Amino acid sequence: MEIREELDHDLGGIRAVHDAAFGGTDESSLVDRLRDDGLIVTSLVADEYGEIVAHILFSELEVTSDSQDRSIRAAALAPMAVAPTHQRLGIGSELVRQGLDLCREKGIEAVIVVGPELNHERYYPRFGFSAEIAECIKSQLSGPFFMALPLKQGVFDDFSGSAIYPDAFDVEISI
Ligand SMILES: CC(C)(COP(=O)(O)OP(=O)(O)OC[C@H]1O[C@@H](n2cnc3c(N)ncnc32)[C@H](O)[C@@H]1OP(=O)(O)O)[C@@H](O)C(=O)NCCC(=O)NCCS
Repeated sequence: MEIREELDHDLGGIRAVHDAAFGGTDESSLVDRLRDDGLIVTSLVADEYGEIVAHILFSELEVTSDSQDRSIRAAALAPMAVAPTHQRLGIGSELVRQGLDLCREKGIEAVIVVGPELNHERYYPRFGFSAEIAECIKSQLSGPFFMALPLKQGVFDDFSGSAIYPDAFDVEISI
């Protein structure tokens, strides 16, 4: 199993893995829209002998302070999916870890995730995501499953602001 950044010939496999994991096309459409809008920070696939068995996407997210004098270079983690045949084998966790490392290398200062279903409040905290930290960020997706992970020390110190999700997210999805 190889974890690597997406290539042009992976797009069909990426769509298929989201459709299988989520049972619909909303999340694969979100991936396509974010890619079309040029917002991808990093898009990682798990490739098993040429078959895409998992995918994770990090996209540009604007986070600005209430006074508009500070902005955080953030990324949204969404969506991620592991093929039903390959779940609970640690592949999702590996994608999150490698994705966070790449985000850090690319200068991303914080990552934000929304995990509204499947007890994700227990999944993302294991990587350091915290709903408490995210309380300083208002957004249309705010709530108990809205979690943030600082990648740069002190990035949320004395911060109060908003995350502006791009139009690509303007759909009912389980991210
Ligand atoms: C959530 C998901 C990405 C996790 O990937 P994964 O490779 O299966 O997860 P890992 O093997 O790294 O981690 C396993 C842990 O994830 C959690 N988990 C995985 N699948 C789960 C599920 N269907 N329901 C609840 N928890 C789940 C569990 O806590 C599990 O730990 P455990 O096996 O010790 O109980 C994957 O199950 C998936 O694609 N689900 C459907 C789509 C989805 O909900 N995506 C996330 C929202 S963007």
